[in-house]
Amino acid sequence: MALRNILTKEDATLYKKCRPVTDFNERLHQLLDDMGETLMEADGVGLAAPQVGVLRRAVVVLETNVPEGEDPYIIELINPEIISTSGEQTGAEGCLSVPGEYGLVKRPMDVTVRAQNRFGETFSVSGTGLTARCFCHELDHLDGVIFTTKAERMLTEEELQGREKEED
Ligand code: CO
Repeated sequence: MALRNILTKEDATLYKKCRPVTDFNERLHQLLDDMGETLMEADGVGLAAPQVGVLRRAVVVLETNVPEGEDPYIIELINPEIISTSGEQTGAEGCLSVPGEYGLVKRPMDVTVRAQNRFGETFSVSGTGLTARCFCHELDHLDGVIFTTKAERMLTEEELQGREKEED
């Protein structure tokens, strides 16, 4: 495993549409391992392949809604699609590729995604709250969309102080 460099918003790679993953091989597994390690090192809750310079439809999301005493765990989503949403939430959102900036973004409260795992097997997973927000944010990355374009407005320095920051 190795840490990968996280691209920032100036990089044109972040605005391109990613292609589907077709080969569920060792190279993909290495990418996913590295993305997971990079995410944890950066203390984030989600990371998409284009953020590490790979234009393929793969993301990792940290599931933080776990029973007390249990550790958050990483969900790997390959070729993910949102198949249902419900409710809504408006809250502060950030991005490891846009360090230090946060904006108010409206997202569904509950999101179900269908994806493949690292072996190419199809599964569905549901997330709520921060996890639902993260699913939407990371899937946007796969289409070259950065959260700042969806924000109702960006937060000011003053508003950020004392607010619990959430980095996707
Ligand atoms: Co992001």
